[in-house]
Amino acid sequence: MTGPTVLAFETSCDETAVAVVRGREVLANVLSSQVDLHARYGGVVPEVAARAHIETIRSLTHQALNEAGVHPDELDGIAATQGPGLVGSLLVGFSYAKAMAWARQLPFLGVDHMEGHLFAPRLEFESFTPPAVVLLASGGHSQVVLMRDWGEYQVLGQTIDDAAGEAFDKLARYMGLGYPGGPAIDVNAIGGDPDAIRFPRALSDRRYDFSFSGLKTSVVTFLEKAKASNTLPPIEDVAASIQEAITDVLVTKTLNAVEDHGVERIGGGGGVLANSRLRQKLTEEADRRGLDLALPSPALCTDNGAMIGAAGAHWLGQGQYSDWSSQVDVNLRL
Ligand code: KG4
Ligand code: ZN
Repeated sequence: MTGPTVLAFETSCDETAVAVVRGREVLANVLSSQVDLHARYGGVVPEVAARAHIETIRSLTHQALNEAGVHPDELDGIAATQGPGLVGSLLVGFSYAKAMAWARQLPFLGVDHMEGHLFAPRLEFESFTPPAVVLLASGGHSQVVLMRDWGEYQVLGQTIDDAAGEAFDKLARYMGLGYPGGPAIDVNAIGGDPDAIRFPRALSDRRYDFSFSGLKTSVVTFLEKAKASNTLPPIEDVAASIQEAITDVLVTKTLNAVEDHGVERIGGGGGVLANSRLRQKLTEEADRRGLDLALPSPALCTDNGAMIGAAGAHWLGQGQYSDWSSQVDVNLRL
């Protein structure tokens, strides 16, 4: 069985993303990034993001259907991110998708963005099935999730302040490395010594929760002192040490959850899972412990339409759909 053919939209933040997914198979996955539009502001400007989604969504939809070789008549359903995210951005994709579904009388499903990230490993790993522990780390969220079944998620731990991606972004901005900060720190850390500076690993007394706001204070204090005393280490050592501190806690808390709940499968999702050092550590730990690791390729870790299509195909295939009166929900939670 291949599963339903679904057109999927993801416009929760600054990427307009459209995909065509058939069951677990990605037929097309196209994306228009707004990074250049927002870079000069050092972060996403909501109004600019919403307008850019409006300008690109139609042509991107045509592109996705063309690349997939799928005529709209062949679609079994349409899915779109319902939240969380920026309200103006969400509204563009959600309304466009709902209108198209209504016009074609197709089932429509609103998908939780984080559930999309949870489904992403499924696109490349057939073995990725519940029960599993999934590390979700993006610009807005850092969560360790126990997935008992599809749709049955227990958030074991989360950040009590900044998300991991937010920490990368804020620190990169402070150091003048550019936006978005995660990829900038990842690149600048190449060749650096991860043990050069021992930045704090917060909340080591809690099994699953994170805290990243103290790290920023610690890095700022360190750099100011080093500047004043003319002892600034090479930038690659600072970047590698920051990356080490953030990825250390992400890996530790994920493994705590695996250990406590006796599962043998780990999944990952969210932009931070594109981080090269995090991927390396997770792979090493999984190998050492004989765990089954389902780490999507970097393009499926960062925001994309295919992950919404994967969740959409699963639930629409089971006959679930949203009401025509459904609306976006910026506070949607797993
Ligand atoms: O999932 P995502 O694409 O969007 C949200 O839902 O937020 O995640 C974006 C976040 C940003 O904070 C970005 O800096 C971070 O993911 N990120 C990375 C890397 N690539 C993206 N963080 C660390 N290393 C990377 N290579
Ligand atoms: Zn995301």
